[in-house]
Amino acid sequence: METLTVALGSREYPILVGQGILENGGLLLPFLRSPKIAIVTNTTVAPLYLERFSTPLRNAGIDIAEIILPDGEQHKNWQTLNTIFDVLLERRCERSSTLIGLGGGVIGDMAGFAAACYQRGMPFIQVPTTLLSQVDSSVGGKTAINHPLGKNMIGAFYQPKLVLADTDCLNTLPDRELLAGLAEVIKYGLIRDLPFLVWLEANLERLLEREPRALEYAICRSCANKAEVVVADEHERGERALLNLGHTFGHAIETGMGYGKWLHGEAVAAGTMMAAELSRQLGWIDLDDLKRIENLFERAGLPVFGPAMGADRYLELMQHDKKVQDGKLRLVLLKQIGQAVVSDMASPTEIGKAITSRSTDV
Ligand code: NAD
Ligand code: GLY
Repeated sequence: METLTVALGSREYPILVGQGILENGGLLLPFLRSPKIAIVTNTTVAPLYLERFSTPLRNAGIDIAEIILPDGEQHKNWQTLNTIFDVLLERRCERSSTLIGLGGGVIGDMAGFAAACYQRGMPFIQVPTTLLSQVDSSVGGKTAINHPLGKNMIGAFYQPKLVLADTDCLNTLPDRELLAGLAEVIKYGLIRDLPFLVWLEANLERLLEREPRALEYAICRSCANKAEVVVADEHERGERALLNLGHTFGHAIETGMGYGKWLHGEAVAAGTMMAAELSRQLGWIDLDDLKRIENLFERAGLPVFGPAMGADRYLELMQHDKKVQDGKLRLVLLKQIGQAVVSDMASPTEIGKAITSRSTDV
């Protein structure tokens, strides 16, 4: 098992990454403040992992409230969030009870937001079960639900006490979900870790074949990158925004197409190609760089063009981005491969041109 640390002073917490650790309740017990916990999961993950995860804890005398939500991005909303509060209250969970999110990023984001709000904050633990959640969403304390007008628009920064990532869970993950997770892995290479990008180019097939050692390496390297950025800029006043490469375009795709139609990672891949095209138009990267990025996403089975919603519709949806300042869009672009920047240099016309050249009917 590997241990990484998110070094946030008195709120520092470990990320444990390893095979089979989900069933090791002993790893979790020291992080509980009381013998009462609530586990938030969904109808897909519960039959696969809930019993395996909860049995050792029950055997250790922990009282567990189970909260099983409907599965899907389209349920990441107020109504579903409220069902978490219903059970927490019905089961008389207290401020010292721990809320645990067992599932992918949708569960982690919703459970984390519920934990931030319930009685003004209860302890929270992330047990991510998708590649995307193990490399990104479980680390760093961003929690949220969607609004019909915009992705992740309602939420809070709320750090977990522990992240426990069992790489064995990835064995049951559908192929499409594994690939979507790779989009966020590739992101770290593009924005700040060129040697990792080179490693990914050389080892992608090992990841696609789910080779445990390759997956563990990619997860740890991704989490190490994320932890460094979060420690430097927890509340996204600057550097943390770089983690959103491709996301402003990608969130427009997710919202515009209807939540759940495009997976988050797929939208990020297509959005990253739009950001790369814009970076090329600005003269920062060249055509070879663009092709290099496209080639890696294509090898990973990810879309390299977004849906043809029309540039104006994209731009309208992108206005709901959290980086918008004084009504002006700010985008994460590539100065070069391995170095991202936040820029407001591109005009709507230039942005629209990049969108049009990287979108197609699907
Ligand atoms: P997801 O949570 O929808 O999970 C994908 C699918 O896999 C779901 O159907 C889920 O039930 C299923 N699943 C989960 N674990 C499984 C397993 N081990 N075996 C089989 N099936 C399994 O999607 P995701 O890609 O994990 O997360 C996407 C969400 O994360 C988006 O809402 C996105 O906005 C959010 N996100 C948040 C952050 C953050 O920093 N908080 C970062 C990136 C993404
Ligand atoms: N996924 C972007 C962030 O955590 O900041």
